[in-house]
Amino acid sequence: MKAVQIDRYGGPEELHYRDVAEPQAAAGEILVDIHAVSVNPGDIKVRKGLRPEFLKDGFPHTMGRDFSGIVRSIGPGVTGFRTGDAVFGVLALGKEGTYAERVCVPAELATRKPAAKSHVDTVSMALTGLTALYAVEDSAAVKSGETILIHGGSGGIGTFSVQYCKHVGATVYVTASARNHEYVKWLGADAAIDYHTQDFTKLVPPCDVVFDMIGGEVQRRSLDVIKPGGRIVSVAASVANIQGVRSDIEVLRPLVTRDRKHLDRVAELLVGGGVRPPPITRMKLSEVRAAHELMESGTLQGKIVFEVRPE
Ligand SMILES: NC(=O)c1ccc[n+]([C@@H]2O[C@H](COP(=O)([O-])OP(=O)(O)OC[C@H]3O[C@@H](n4cnc5c(N)ncnc54)[C@H](OP(=O)(O)O)[C@@H]3O)[C@@H](O)[C@H]2O)c1
Repeated sequence: MKAVQIDRYGGPEELHYRDVAEPQAAAGEILVDIHAVSVNPGDIKVRKGLRPEFLKDGFPHTMGRDFSGIVRSIGPGVTGFRTGDAVFGVLALGKEGTYAERVCVPAELATRKPAAKSHVDTVSMALTGLTALYAVEDSAAVKSGETILIHGGSGGIGTFSVQYCKHVGATVYVTASARNHEYVKWLGADAAIDYHTQDFTKLVPPCDVVFDMIGGEVQRRSLDVIKPGGRIVSVAASVANIQGVRSDIEVLRPLVTRDRKHLDRVAELLVGGGVRPPPITRMKLSEVRAAHELMESGTLQGKIVFEVRPE
């Protein structure tokens, strides 16, 4: 089968679309014919060598974390799936391998793809939706009537989070580049702040929650806009530097693992209309170098999805 691998860290030129050995489902696994896989910023970090924990098995390394596809075969001991089922999911924490025509996955890390949604639409919200739910639903538990500031609201996780927070009845402020303000308002944001030219600490009202996807100075300055009793949740950076700075707020750093419960919640929100997929740039797996260049260009709106088997 074809897959995309790296043999060493580096730029997009290190991505190789090539023939690799066929995987075989072991006990407890399903073998999935991948129809769609999304490009996530974590892929860029892995390729550059910034996430060595994903390279435990060394080189060559097959990239990619989420998938949507059709069950091709079932390993011993798997119940609940049959050949031909449409499924989606995210590989276990620290694992990659979905930039490929097929992948073996522990059955508990997959769930049914919503019949009403395409593989491309579903996978565009798999890893991002899972991360968003751990952060804004489980950790911060954003509620109706609360005010939330989302840094990075125009990105993949932001796309899901802005819509989710509006769905539960929160007021949503977003920091994003000016070129994305129309987009975040389309997602439902009540107000957008251009972080290049405006100081969010002067423009947002006291917030119940800040969702930080940036870290560093943005994370630190966010402490100034949180109400007593409020919370800050970070997914992109450690919270060590802000821990204890304010004793009257909660500092949250969720461990985003993978499980069927959260995938089912993503599917439920997609089907129920609580969230809708972002604009999607469809590419072929063989175009992986161009896909990474586009992802790194800073001009992308929405997600890049590889259509491994066009619908
Ligand atoms: N902890 C976890 O398990 C986990 C899981 C998945 C992802 N992540 C991490 O979470 C982060 C976000 O992921 P993502 O998929 O949403 O990334 P993404 O699609 O690349 O979006 C990131 C967004 O951040 C915005 N941005 C950059 N600098 C900013 C600043 N100073 N202030 C406000 N916004 C700024 C950009 O917006 P504009 O284009 O509008 O400028 C960009 O759209 C990444 O670092 C990713 O690696 C963590």
